[in-house]
Amino acid sequence: MRETTSDINVCIAGTGSYVPARILTNAELAVMVDTSDEWIFSRTGIRERRIAAKDEFTSHLATNAAVQALTQAGLAPEDLELIILATITPDTLTPATACYVQQRLGAHRAVAFDISAACSGFLYAMKICKRLISDGAFNNALIIGADKLSSITNWEDRATCVLFGDGAGAAVLRRSKPGEGAIIATEMGTDGNLTHILSVPGGGTACPITPDNVNDHLQTLSMQGKEVFKVAVNRMKEAAEMVIKRAGWQAEDIACVIPHQANRRIIDAIADRLAVPNERVFINLEKYGNTSAAAVAIALDEAHRTGVFKRGDHIVLVVFGAGLTWAAAAIRW
Ligand code: ACO
Repeated sequence: MRETTSDINVCIAGTGSYVPARILTNAELAVMVDTSDEWIFSRTGIRERRIAAKDEFTSHLATNAAVQALTQAGLAPEDLELIILATITPDTLTPATACYVQQRLGAHRAVAFDISAACSGFLYAMKICKRLISDGAFNNALIIGADKLSSITNWEDRATCVLFGDGAGAAVLRRSKPGEGAIIATEMGTDGNLTHILSVPGGGTACPITPDNVNDHLQTLSMQGKEVFKVAVNRMKEAAEMVIKRAGWQAEDIACVIPHQANRRIIDAIADRLAVPNERVFINLEKYGNTSAAAVAIALDEAHRTGVFKRGDHIVLVVFGAGLTWAAAAIRW
């Protein structure tokens, strides 16, 4: 019988992650702005974050994570067919950061491009690649979430600078072989009415960089934290419920939920609403803060490498970010 796209499952064959060596603690931040470890930890769950060196670009972070994912998948760079890199902090506006990664990996056959969906980018890339592989357009793909948020952080604004960090996470996707896992369901959404509550206003065509607006920090992230918080909880809950329902699972069937690592209170609220016990929710934001597109990808890799879930387990990834954007995936590992 002819194989149809619905017969073709797509699995995650390898994961990888990388964070820069430099650790910036809450205590150090308390010297830079009027804050404290107590305030930051109690409001966010973050203790420290990683900061990339001046000459360490998003493409370097991404390449390091990608090498690990390819190695674990047993895929040679020259056999890679597609690279999608999600970032809001590209090395250059053009070419895409994925092109630098392709060159560094030696993945000369791979089509490479970036997508911009802020913290939701890794799961947007996952959905795109799942479809392109199951449609037969590509046999395999590398998805990467990588961000150097320290480069767009206003280090004088205590309301935002305590939240962010740098890092990258990656995964290799390919057709599943019999008995292997599968990405069962994916969901994504966008609300462009809420562009204003989380953005980098300067640096694009709407507000080109000038000395004046650099003085006003318009090239850095600005955020209405409380508004983002409310929408994030509702949209992540809905997206997660949607993929759980489509997968035909109940809350008790889920071995691990891996949410976007932005704020411990947001994660606890989601876990509550999904009725998943806290011990099945993977959290590493204490060490890294919010690394945007990288956050869920780093968490997936850490959970995988430390044996938090095993072959056959049901896991749910769920994210939100600027746009506002949100996405979720239900995966049988
Ligand atoms: N240290 C000490 N005090 C602070 C700090 C700080 N770092 N930051 C703010 N405050 C003060 C405020 O000035 C305010 O003081 P006031 O009451 O005298 O006016 C008080 O603390 C409370 O501030 P709120 O903003 O109301 O604090 P809130 O409890 O909402 O927590 C937070 C702020 C942590 C930012 C929260 O709103 C949040 O996590 N929101 C979601 C953020 C998020 O997830 N963003 C995702 C970005 S993802 C992306 O796409 C890059």
